[in-house]
Amino acid sequence: MNPFTLKRFTLTSLMMLAAAGCGGAATSDEQPQAPDTQTEDNWNPEEQATTASTAQGALLFTKETFKGNGRTCSTCHSLTTGTLTPAQAQAAYARNHSDPLFRALDSDTGNGASYSKLLNDATVTVTIPLVANVRLANSTARSVTLRRGIPSTFDNPKLDPVIMLDGREPTLQHQAMDAVAGHAQGGRVPTTTELNAIADFEKALFSSAKMATWGATGTPAALPEGTTDSEKRGKAWFAPNALCGGCHGGPALNATTQFNLPGLPTGDRYAFAFVSQFNFAGNPTQEYIVTNPDGTESHVVSPDPGRLLITGNMFDADTFTMTSLRNIKNTAPYFHDNSAKDLAGVLRQYKAVTDMLGIPMSDQDQADIIAYMKLL
Ligand code: HEC
Ligand code: HEC
Repeated sequence: MNPFTLKRFTLTSLMMLAAAGCGGAATSDEQPQAPDTQTEDNWNPEEQATTASTAQGALLFTKETFKGNGRTCSTCHSLTTGTLTPAQAQAAYARNHSDPLFRALDSDTGNGASYSKLLNDATVTVTIPLVANVRLANSTARSVTLRRGIPSTFDNPKLDPVIMLDGREPTLQHQAMDAVAGHAQGGRVPTTTELNAIADFEKALFSSAKMATWGATGTPAALPEGTTDSEKRGKAWFAPNALCGGCHGGPALNATTQFNLPGLPTGDRYAFAFVSQFNFAGNPTQEYIVTNPDGTESHVVSPDPGRLLITGNMFDADTFTMTSLRNIKNTAPYFHDNSAKDLAGVLRQYKAVTDMLGIPMSDQDQADIIAYMKLL
């Protein structure tokens, strides 16, 4: 991030906080300011913090540790992209081995001895309790700890009601409370005002002017048509009846148009792209035993069974949220386990799927799809 922007932003936030009585009851009745001279190429998402509540939220998001392990939200959700890359993790480690990003709970084996997964994949741990009808074959534990990538906090807070890679959080406020308790090992629970301010700030974060306009007006930004022949061919893969568009439909390319889960209508937000099944991230697998409604048992061996852990429904095994593909070029690595380090890595994953299913996809096809995705 441009340090000048950060300085200006912090000053503005502090002034607004002072005007609002510093941390007192947040007001959100200030007029949003028009973004000054910002274009798609010159977009500073944090400049969108324009009300007292968003300004308070900005400070909480970037500075408040809640008496925890030293982490803030922006330890993991950078203000440049909303997420964290392996390069950013490596730079933080090079600067300071005890940077708050490096805490034992996210080390390779939980004891703080090494951080190769965090450094190479930028994945951290999440701990999820098991629902009543799901158990582990080889352990009596009632929760599992899994490694996941960090989804971007841009665009989705305002535009997407489905929160988390498995949809498990009901609201942004509840999510923030759990993030403080989990990732930040917080020593105090945030107040309702603080949680609302964090949510307000997140809802003001957009990846581009186009997405901010969508957020403000509720009218989705049109999908790009593509200019070059390659981009136009790439777009054809996202037609509703085409391979990518069968799942990635709608204005954010995150809702099914045809390959929806059994029994569900189109527009479903969960699916699988064989990411857990192929497990290119090489995460350890566990065997899950699911007791179905009819009393039968199903067994799933997986590094991360995704939404199954939330619903206990076998149809959801290894399924994950489809997140928005808008501005996807900015938010590598990709997939819930960050197993694809760039868009070429995404296509390597899908090429493995098409090869398995006997669907042709040439090198040129892959280049076309990547060219189009860079426009989103
Ligand atoms: C240690 C890194 C880390 C920290 C610190 C952290 N997060 Fe996250 N965040 C994650 C990961 C990982 C996920 C996805 C987890 C999942 O889906 O299981 C996530 C998901 C989210 C999402 C959902 C995004 C979406 O599109 O579904 C939001 C919103 C979010 N975090 C906000 C916050 C806030 C607010 C804070 C501070 C209170 C915070 N995070 C602190 C790692 C972190
Ligand atoms: C059967 C449904 C389905 C199809 C078909 C499909 N996807 Fe996906 N896609 C998903 C799901 C589900 C995820 C999230 C998977 C995960 O994280 O495990 C995903 C994730 C992605 C991501 C990464 C998003 C992120 O932020 O990490 C990209 C990029 C993507 N898909 C592009 C494509 C392209 C290109 C095609 C066509 C070659 C395609 N998808 C076909 C369901 C599908």
